[in-house]
Formats: sequence, structure tokens, C-alpha cells
Amino acid sequence: MFFKKKKEPVEVPLRLVPRNLGIIMDGNGRWAKKRGLPRQAGHVTGAQVFRKITKYCEKCGVEYLTVYAFSTENWKRPQEEVDAIMDLLRQYLKESLADFQQENIRTRFIGDRTPLAEDIRQLMREAEETTAHKTGMTLNIALNYGGQQELTAAARVLAHRVSAGEISPEDIDEKMLEAALYTEDQPPVDLILRPSGEYRLSNFLVWQSAYAEFVFMDDILWPDFKESDLERAFEEFARRNRRFGGV
Ligand code: FPP
Repeated sequence: MFFKKKKEPVEVPLRLVPRNLGIIMDGNGRWAKKRGLPRQAGHVTGAQVFRKITKYCEKCGVEYLTVYAFSTENWKRPQEEVDAIMDLLRQYLKESLADFQQENIRTRFIGDRTPLAEDIRQLMREAEETTAHKTGMTLNIALNYGGQQELTAAARVLAHRVSAGEISPEDIDEKMLEAALYTEDQPPVDLILRPSGEYRLSNFLVWQSAYAEFVFMDDILWPDFKESDLERAFEEFARRNRRFGGV
């Protein structure tokens, strides 16, 4: 039984595909170092892989994909590397504005935009506006994103609503907090995928992944990641027995 979402069938059985997937695109620096290249070269290839894998996720029937492009902690990296990642983002957004017309992917950004350069913020707005009406997969690009920062901002929003007399502290429940997150109306994350041999969440989708499955792939770095690796992760995901706290 194969999943046929579009005209072109993809050889991934439907039951293997998570509805909501998070990817930590890790290992770019090590990939470059192994080749004697500057770390930035790993991000360049990583960005190409991101584009390929995003399209494949859409074809496979993933409904929500979140990729970790830049964390609230990544500002600690050398300025040269931060600039290189921002330049890649600029380039990706400029090139993709045309691409976006052909694809049925809705692009959104999650994270705190305030410290980002104004031209990048403008490109982000354009990408979101151009793709807002798309009905296929939602792609969240996590940029200057941190799960703890997101929860803190949500708490602040709710505190303001209490002090304005709009709600009382007792009204606050999980649904209300969830609605104050960047991912507001999206379902919980089913699978978090991290290549490169690191076994941690790194402040990614802290609330949303409460019952997510984790697939850590220690035999591959992100710039080498292929469609078949995604299928491998989906197969592993399908073997999991998800009980959500039940029996
Ligand atoms: C983690 O690898 C990767 C990042 C912090 C940056 C990810 C950025 C991209 C893939 C390119 C830009 C993205 C878009 C959306 C255009 P690492 O540098 O921590 O690798 P290491 O652990 O081997 O050092």
C-alpha cells in the first residue's frame, strides 16, 4: 500500500509518515571540517539539503515541518559564521520567492524577529504573504528561535491579559498557553529527527514535542542527508508504540 498524495506516487507507505515533523539540521560544521573547509561551507550544503528535503516531505504527505535554522543561542558563534547563515537565509528567500509560486507549501517563521536585519524581516514577511493561501504542507522555519524564549513570551502575553482584566489566572489552561505560542494553531509534533550523533533537544519545540518520538541518526551529518535517510527515519517512527501516557 503506497501513499499517493499527488499524481506522482512516492514510495513511502502512508502509515510511516508523521503528520508533524521537526528536524534539527545538525552536523554542518563537522561535515565541513572533515573536508578541510570553513564551517560556512557546511551551511551552504546544508541549505541545499534543506530545500531538497523540504520538497520531499511535502511529497510524502507531511503536513507540518519545522526546521531549526538558527537558535537563540547561535548568536554565540563567531560573527563570520552568523553572517554566513544570515546570508544563506537571504539568498534562500530571494530565490524561493519565485519557487514558492509553483509549490504548495505555506512558509512561516517562528522565533523572535526583532534582532534580525530589516531586509531579512521584509523578505520573511513577503515569503509568508506570498504563500499564506497555500493548502499543502506548512513549513515553519525556526529563526532566532528557542523553546524557553517562546514559553517566556507566551507567559508574558497571558500576564498582560490578566493585568488588563481580560482573563483571570484561573482561566489559563494548556489550550490558552498553546494559543500564545508561535505554532498557535498547529498540532503537536509527532517526530523529532536529528542527524549527526547528538542526542538532545537543544531548546527546540520544547512544549510541542512533549509526546514526540525522537529519531537520532548517528551515522549521518545533515549535509549528506538524502531522501532515503528520511524514509529510514519514517520506518523507525512507524515501529514506535505511541501511548501518550496511556497503556
Ligand atoms: C547546525 O550544525 C546547523 C545550524 C546551526 C545552522 C543551520 C543552517 C542551515 C542548514 C542553513 C540555513 C538555513 C536555511 C533555512 C536557508 P552545526 O553548525 O552546529 O554543526 P556542528 O555541530 O557539526 O558544528
